[in-house]
Amino acid sequence: MSSGLMRILSGIQPSGKLHIGNYFGMMRPAIQLQDEGEAFYFIADLHALTTVRTGDDLRNYSRDLALDFLACGLDPAKACFFRQSAVPAVTELAWILSTVTPMGLLERCHSFKDKTTRGLAASHGLFAYPVLMAADILIYDSDLVPVGKDQKQHLEVTRDIAVKINELYGSVLKLPEASIREESASVPGLDGAKMSKSYGNTIEIFEEERSLKKKIMGIPTDSTPVESPKATDTSTILALYQLVASAGDYGTMRADFKRGGVGYGDFKKRLLGAVWEYFAPMRARRTELLADPGYVDKVLAAGEEKANAIADSVLSRVRSAVGLR
Ligand code: ADP
Ligand code: TRP
Repeated sequence: MSSGLMRILSGIQPSGKLHIGNYFGMMRPAIQLQDEGEAFYFIADLHALTTVRTGDDLRNYSRDLALDFLACGLDPAKACFFRQSAVPAVTELAWILSTVTPMGLLERCHSFKDKTTRGLAASHGLFAYPVLMAADILIYDSDLVPVGKDQKQHLEVTRDIAVKINELYGSVLKLPEASIREESASVPGLDGAKMSKSYGNTIEIFEEERSLKKKIMGIPTDSTPVESPKATDTSTILALYQLVASAGDYGTMRADFKRGGVGYGDFKKRLLGAVWEYFAPMRARRTELLADPGYVDKVLAAGEEKANAIADSVLSRVRSAVGLR
């Protein structure tokens, strides 16, 4: 049934440009985990259909996501990388799961309420999204799912649905665990709220230098005078700096905050330098990848073949358990 290695799975939606919240919350942990087991990472294009409304946008976002993730260190020799929509078994499993999913379970999900409150159309797809996500995870017999904190509830729903299937049909589905790194569970955006594509408060991983400068120098700060000590707990500058600076440089900035005598402009310049430097190797790698136009397609084609083989075998187990075969 499985190779004995821990199976790690995660997905990310191609619904806009990737930002450093995505990087520290999901991509970096996923990249680190590719050495720890058999990793499966996918472009959640079926999920993105709930919000992206033109074919060209979805194609472009998907392609950029693939390039960006590879440039950030996803290694196709270690991790299987593919498009969700290239694995048809997942939508069939989603239907089977939906037939045992209580409405109340979905009604309790925060993400539907959050998204519709922000003005997204309350489509059936958006409502049923956690069921498709459960299928994404369960179809690969996944053990561990690295995600940001906002996805924790979806992992609980996934386990609830798997338990329901197992209660009804015997031991059919493997129960996965979420893997959430507390230190980067919620990366703040420029305005101090959670960084999110939909809040317009992001720093993109591959942001142009000029716009990066404009964004960082524009981070709102309080009116503490230069010579006075500054609050460390609530500072977005400090929180972001901790992610990209060395421990020593972070310690120095923190001490300067507490001591006073340094202005916010200076802190922002240090943050700008550290962000730019942190992502320099990824920018270089991305330029290299762009020089080989067939590379991304080749990687995804290989990933899709491997993903389908596993998904087909799990789906066939489920079909026979439920009586479809
Ligand atoms: P967005 O909120 O920008 O639309 P997604 O919902 O597509 O981001 O999230 C993709 C992945 O990145 C998820 O695993 C999510 O938990 C993680 N993530 C998104 N924003 C953040 C953040 N600000 N801090 C930490 N992780 C994040
Ligand atoms: N729902 C996730 C997000 O918005 C993306 C996702 C879809 C996912 N399917 C998944 C993440 C399966 C982990 C596992 O970020």
